[in-house]
Amino acid sequence: MDQTGLPARRAAHHLLQQITTQGRLLSELLGAGALDHLPTEDRARAQRLATDGLRSLDRADRMVKPFVKKNPHIFVRNALRLATLELCTGGAAHGIVNAYVEIVGRNKRTQTFKGMTNAVLRKVAEAGPEAWEKLPVPVTPSWLRQPLVAAWGRKPMDGIERAHFAGAPIDLTAKGDAAAVAKATGGVLLPTGSVRLADAGQVSALAGYDAGDWWVQDAAAALPVKLLGDVNGLKCLDLCAAPGGKTMQLAALGADVTSVDVSAARMGRVSENLRRTGLRGTVVVSDAFDYTQDGFDVVLLDAPCSATGTIRRHPDLPHAKDGTEFGALIAQQEALLDHALTLLKPGGALVFCTCSLLPDEGEVQVEDALARHDGLTVDSTALNRDGIDPAWVTEEGGLRLRPDYWRELGGMDGFYMAVLRKPA
Ligand SMILES: C[S@@+](CC[C@H](N)C(=O)[O-])C[C@H]1O[C@@H](n2cnc3c(N)ncnc32)[C@H](O)[C@@H]1O
Repeated sequence: MDQTGLPARRAAHHLLQQITTQGRLLSELLGAGALDHLPTEDRARAQRLATDGLRSLDRADRMVKPFVKKNPHIFVRNALRLATLELCTGGAAHGIVNAYVEIVGRNKRTQTFKGMTNAVLRKVAEAGPEAWEKLPVPVTPSWLRQPLVAAWGRKPMDGIERAHFAGAPIDLTAKGDAAAVAKATGGVLLPTGSVRLADAGQVSALAGYDAGDWWVQDAAAALPVKLLGDVNGLKCLDLCAAPGGKTMQLAALGADVTSVDVSAARMGRVSENLRRTGLRGTVVVSDAFDYTQDGFDVVLLDAPCSATGTIRRHPDLPHAKDGTEFGALIAQQEALLDHALTLLKPGGALVFCTCSLLPDEGEVQVEDALARHDGLTVDSTALNRDGIDPAWVTEEGGLRLRPDYWRELGGMDGFYMAVLRKPA
């Protein structure tokens, strides 16, 4: 048996089963201890295998297709997918084939597919990495591909899929001097001031972690706060704040920040992050709708959304979800935006943002808010910041970020943001 071993492969296969047949998210499964029974190294292997398997699912299906007569049971299909990925990315064929044949054989319902699995995988091994490399970049499941093609066009969607397949580097936001953090961690300073690490390894082992000199935050996710400019001394509310990336940015800039989030567990991480970085903020566990303290100079609303902008890091999402929950999220975003405006003092700024690629959760939300609220305006001058490409600015004055942007630098998460100004 080669390095990955049977326990890690079985665990990865089990994760894939739960994601593709029960709509569970990888983060949810890992949080519930799905890999806790494994030794540390196997845990990392299983997670890596499942993540890479999800990213290349469509490619593995194409690779296997010529060798199967009809689509086998999903349990078998997931075994073929993981085995194909391993066989086509340099794994030792004998060990891989044996392991997945055993996985298929251990399940009563799929025992009879052992011979078929063996035969198909031997053919895949023969075709090997050469055929794999020639296959197209994996295509997004159609429930999500269709609205994204409609929004951004076919060619940009190819770029988005290429970015999803490539995965994401680790970005850091510096508490103070970003150039010094780049130097200390061996990272690159990005045009918008984040630090990018091509190969971070274990994050907590990086220079400056214990001292709290930085925190992990995608360069796109760091921009909503950057649009606010100087917030020193301003009363800022971070609504929907956990795990606290934006709260820490506001605190580091000298704002008097209050963070609100409905999840006590996730808020624990905000407190932990503030402690590590030595920053100060008021942490409140509450449903945003129950929080009624008003008079804030700034409200930042990073609303719960489809998270379709984060697929580079969360390749499980298109395979676990089918879009049916998004209507409720869009309605909630609208209600949260209206509530956030009531907490803002006249003339104050509301940053509305979502890590979504769907215009319904970004551009359309802002257009609708402008129609609902007399005197509400978009402050597009806020977008004149270092590193912001004017091509990213949208018709209504917001900022649209996509994973296919900054291709030569390693991409960015998909995000939408706009600075709204309440009438004075
Ligand atoms: C996109 S995440 C926020 C990320 C965070 N702003 C950051 O930069 O680290 C959305 C958050 O909204 C929270 N949330 C969802 N519904 C909420 C509600 N009704 N009231 C308050 N928080 C809510 C979730 O618990 C989640 O932490």
